[in-house]
Amino acid sequence: ALPGNEIEVEAPKLAEVSFPGFWETLRTVDPGPGPRAGSPRGPVVVTIDGPAGSGKSTTATAVAERLGYRHLDSGAIYRALTLALLEEGIPREAWGALELDRLRNIPLAIAPEGTELRIALGDRILADELRSAAVTAAVSDAARVPAVRARLLDLQREAGRAGGLVADGRDMGTVVFAHTPAKIFLTASAEERAQRRYNQLIHKGESVNLRALLTEIQARDERDMNRPVAPLKAADDALIVD
Ligand code: CDP
Repeated sequence: ALPGNEIEVEAPKLAEVSFPGFWETLRTVDPGPGPRAGSPRGPVVVTIDGPAGSGKSTTATAVAERLGYRHLDSGAIYRALTLALLEEGIPREAWGALELDRLRNIPLAIAPEGTELRIALGDRILADELRSAAVTAAVSDAARVPAVRARLLDLQREAGRAGGLVADGRDMGTVVFAHTPAKIFLTASAEERAQRRYNQLIHKGESVNLRALLTEIQARDERDMNRPVAPLKAADDALIVD
């Protein structure tokens, strides 16, 4: 039975016909945390959502380390699918009409590496290419396509099935792990977030312009918050940290 559902069995004795001792055996099974586990009995899924540059990934990595949980950067999955679409040369205007079956042919998978969950595209483990300017500029366009979100949903839920996961992104607490008891929404002003990105990039030796970064962050906020599917917002039961 799916966790969280209440199921009433009208004639339990019938189970004896094909499985003598079924109910006794069932009672010995550990139900595990399950997606609704509201009790602190087992490892849960912790969700950390927020806008670009709010510090989600850094925070999620640190929280996962403290708890001994795995870390899922869901933005990286959206970036990976975006990279695949760019590499296949599918024009951006055509992304909105992409069908789920077509997207299922893209060989995306989650590959555990220690406590980090890396993203694999075919036999490549993706890393720096996910944060290229081309992918960053295109990712919100891909993320607003319903079939893209549907394609990536199972992948993300599967990663959290056994609990013990810190998942960061935009809709971890509102959609993907909507029933988890531990939700954080991390935020900061667009100016503050642009400044952080600026410092990061300068530190990496890249030449960047603060104004341009601010404009890009504001544009991405706008697109992420106003899309019809899974818009960026805090879950009602999230703890908001500014
Ligand atoms: O690191 P940054 O906050 O800039 O972005 P990211 O977390 O890598 O996510 C990149 C983009 O993917 C976001 O701007 C969203 O458009 C999309 N995304 C999403 O729609 N849902 C998620 N759960 C995660 C990312």
